[in-house]
Amino acid sequence: MNRITVIGAGYVGLVTGTCFAELGNQVVCLDVDTTKIADLNRGVLPLYEPSLEELVRRNAGAGRLSFTTSYADALRDSEFIFIAVNTPAGPTGEADLRYVRQAAASIGKVLRHPATIITKSTVPIGTGDRVDHILARELADKVSFDVVANPEFLREGSAVADFLHPDRIVLGADRRAAAEHAAVLYRPLGCPILITDLRSAEMIKYASNAFLATKISFINEVALICERTGADVRVVADGMGLDQRIGRAFLDAGLGWGGSCFPKDVSALAHVAAVHGCHPQLLRTVIEINQDQRLRVIQKLIDLFGTLENRTLALLGLSFKPNTDDLRDAPAVSLAQLLEAEGAVVRAYDPVAMPGARHLLPQVHYQDDPYAAAETADATIVVTDWNEFKHLDLPRLHAAMKHPIIIDGRNIYDPDTMRALGFIYHGIGRGGTGEATPEARETTVPAASSNGEHRTAVLAATGQTTTAA
Ligand SMILES: NC(=O)c1ccc[n+]([C@@H]2O[C@H](COP(=O)([O-])OP(=O)(O)OC[C@H]3O[C@@H](n4cnc5c(N)ncnc54)[C@H](O)[C@@H]3O)[C@@H](O)[C@H]2O)c1
Repeated sequence: MNRITVIGAGYVGLVTGTCFAELGNQVVCLDVDTTKIADLNRGVLPLYEPSLEELVRRNAGAGRLSFTTSYADALRDSEFIFIAVNTPAGPTGEADLRYVRQAAASIGKVLRHPATIITKSTVPIGTGDRVDHILARELADKVSFDVVANPEFLREGSAVADFLHPDRIVLGADRRAAAEHAAVLYRPLGCPILITDLRSAEMIKYASNAFLATKISFINEVALICERTGADVRVVADGMGLDQRIGRAFLDAGLGWGGSCFPKDVSALAHVAAVHGCHPQLLRTVIEINQDQRLRVIQKLIDLFGTLENRTLALLGLSFKPNTDDLRDAPAVSLAQLLEAEGAVVRAYDPVAMPGARHLLPQVHYQDDPYAAAETADATIVVTDWNEFKHLDLPRLHAAMKHPIIIDGRNIYDPDTMRALGFIYHGIGRGGTGEATPEARETTVPAASSNGEHRTAVLAATGQTTTAA
């Protein structure tokens, strides 16, 4: 049994602390957010993550997991201290390290015995050295310590499973023995453990996330070409993915990447590159393609309706991906804001993210189920590929909508099935699949003209253009 403190009880810190407790360690999770800690102490989780609640309850009940806001209490006997605080994007894309600095300074003020300080937060190359300096400055006595970089690769939505079954563990330190000491914690997982220097470990995290984001932006660019040339990007991705050098993962075209990691990490790496005199052209393009991907949906709707003024649009899904309530940089948030700016009425449904969304997007009309969200909608946009949306009663959805237009932002439906059901279907990168059945082709959409008068537009077979009747 090892004594572990985890600083920051967010998505990463809470999962890390809980899983280490599950592995039999004695863990204290610390956060400066008093509400979060008070909630955790009465068994209420501050976030949604599958199976986490049960693990927290079991390990807290067994006395292996506790929560506090006191650094003195949290560090009293701790041998391993993880820093898992947030590292958001600063104003020019750089990583804002203030919380990491604060955590390091707070550790330095109270630590009285030798310990290994492990940065789990995603931090720019060289941050481990800064943490080292802060600790050396703040530690009152000559307490010996090591700094180890241990980037985290878990994904929200499957964080517990990812933590307990990782592809690899990366531990970087200036003193190899320090990284090997920290490796003891991960041995029970039976996965490969890569020991590196401090800076390479920090870089591995950024390079991995940037590569994954690049794969998504790449397939989204291919999707656009598919759309214009009549190919289907899903088929293309399957064909590419069978090549073992490429692999099928992260080749799903859609509304682009979002969430709490990719956007800030790609920007932070581009920033690091720029300040070190590199010219990060590829990273900048990857970001630009991603931003365009959201705008393209708005453009598609404007092509259909002429103007979005007073159109009712339904968003299915709000979280940036399924199985999480995380709305940070979620495509749904920018879509809702863009649609509202165009004068549209936005209705929405998400299985878990609506409480958070109500604060962020107060104008949106939240509904209790997907059918209620689609009620009287001029178009429905699938934003998050929650499983529940893959199994909808599609005729019921069709009946609820004013116009049967589906923008399938995650390509979860089969275009032919959708057409047969009478939908006007637009996927991402599925060339020619907007084509409707003869009945749907007759669907008339009253579109507001630029001077505010209504005219009747007949959706062309592709659904891409509107022509005045
Ligand atoms: N969320 C993910 O999927 C994921 C995956 C891999 C890596 N990461 C990285 O892990 C880090 C944490 O991410 P997260 O999503 O868990 O963030 P989060 O915002 O969910 O949680 C961070 C927590 O740290 C607390 N905190 C801030 N300053 C503190 C301080 N000085 N002392 C104690 N607590 C403090 C905050 O109150 C918050 O509860 C980030 O660097 C992120 O890039 C995140």
